[in-house]
Amino acid sequence: MGYKTIIEPFRVHTVQAIDLPDREAREAALDRSGYNLFGLHADEVIIDLLTDSGTGAMSTRQWSGMMLGDESYAGSRSFYRFEEVVRDLTGYAEIIPTHQGRAAEKILFSVAVNEGDLVPNNTHFDTTRANVEYQGAIAFDCVCAEGRDPSFEAPFKGDVDIAALRAAIEGHGVERVPLAMVTVTNNSGGGQPVSMANLRAVRAVCDDLGVPLFLDACRFAENAWFIKTREPGYADKSPKAIAQEMFAIADGCTVSAKKDGLANIGGFLALNDRQWALQARNLLILTEGFPTYGGLAGYDLEAIATGLEEVLDEKYLRYRIRSTEYLAEKVNAAGIPTVRPPGGHAVYLDAMALLPHIPPHEYPAQALAVELYRAGGVRGVEIGTVMFGRPRDGQPDEPAAMELVRLAIPRRMYTQSHIDYVGEVVIDVASRAADMRGYRIVEQAPWLRHFTARLEPLS
Ligand SMILES: Cc1ncc(COP(=O)(O)O)c(C=O)c1O
Repeated sequence: MGYKTIIEPFRVHTVQAIDLPDREAREAALDRSGYNLFGLHADEVIIDLLTDSGTGAMSTRQWSGMMLGDESYAGSRSFYRFEEVVRDLTGYAEIIPTHQGRAAEKILFSVAVNEGDLVPNNTHFDTTRANVEYQGAIAFDCVCAEGRDPSFEAPFKGDVDIAALRAAIEGHGVERVPLAMVTVTNNSGGGQPVSMANLRAVRAVCDDLGVPLFLDACRFAENAWFIKTREPGYADKSPKAIAQEMFAIADGCTVSAKKDGLANIGGFLALNDRQWALQARNLLILTEGFPTYGGLAGYDLEAIATGLEEVLDEKYLRYRIRSTEYLAEKVNAAGIPTVRPPGGHAVYLDAMALLPHIPPHEYPAQALAVELYRAGGVRGVEIGTVMFGRPRDGQPDEPAAMELVRLAIPRRMYTQSHIDYVGEVVIDVASRAADMRGYRIVEQAPWLRHFTARLEPLS
């Protein structure tokens, strides 16, 4: 069109009021929640970038489609529509709905993974890691070296280190590696994409060693867009064709439909192995529900089916990736370090670089996240030692590889001025970085501690 502004390719149809509580109320909220932003009431937050999961705005097509939801317990029409859309996209034979992504993980790992096994992944997401470890298995990360360096510019920093993958499988013993996973895009590694060439290289190792390959494909469409715009040979292919090619490389996937499903709830496990699928459905009945609804209402299945179609629209994906980049450019221009290049769904502030005076066991990324809330009512999430560190008896926590604050952008939700406001808050807080202090944990759960831990500021 000749104009360079990429506008939101939608207009607002329904609104929800948001408000900034005063400073005193924000302090009281922090105190009450034990300096854990998961403990805030959403009404205490003005811009909520805690997660892009289930927080997006649905379209009029999705909402009206929900009226067509068939709530039959068994064999609902909505299930067959959902199944058709998922099968067309992924090509997998067995489609199993679940109430969200971690339920698909739990069921897959209960069926496939035994004590003492090892599951490699570029970087396990927290629920994926916890579900692998819950089976008594080892969740092994082998993202490429560039993916561990926040400031390094590379197009596919979610790629798997192929030599490390092979060495891990052979070192542990092929018979104790029931499957390998690749997370697209790599959420815990900065929302970075995985190239098609890397997926093929992972497949080659898996074929060679006889290990099934699964995708953690929550953000398959964003990954497809990065392949289209960054990987030679894909510029003229549609996001859908690229996504189909990605899925065809693997044997199955776990998906949280709360991301690129553009839905507020839902997920699925899809795979080709009939035996695993049979066992998974038996477990599903025990924990989620009958195989044609898997913990979801018929109207949820309709919303997901439509969302999976809408998310592959080029205009949407161009806007989506650009709007994330826009926030990163704003804070980078003020000299604030972030994971580079920006991920698809989030900007990751590099707290280790911004707060070098706070050691990992005093949780620099948590300190930064708390300060963003205190200053401007903006909620992000710590992805650092609170989330991934390990408590050790009588010693400081084993630190996480990176100390990041993730500002995840809900889909189709906030406008450019909301994002401008977030940029202003981040820049203001960063200007006071030297005055910030760390935290200590006073209460924590044995796994996924970041959801419920209570902290105290260090003086
Ligand atoms: C990469 C990845 N895998 C799995 C999950 C788990 O999905 P859910 O929150 O729907 O259980 C998430 C959620 O954020 C994720 O980002």
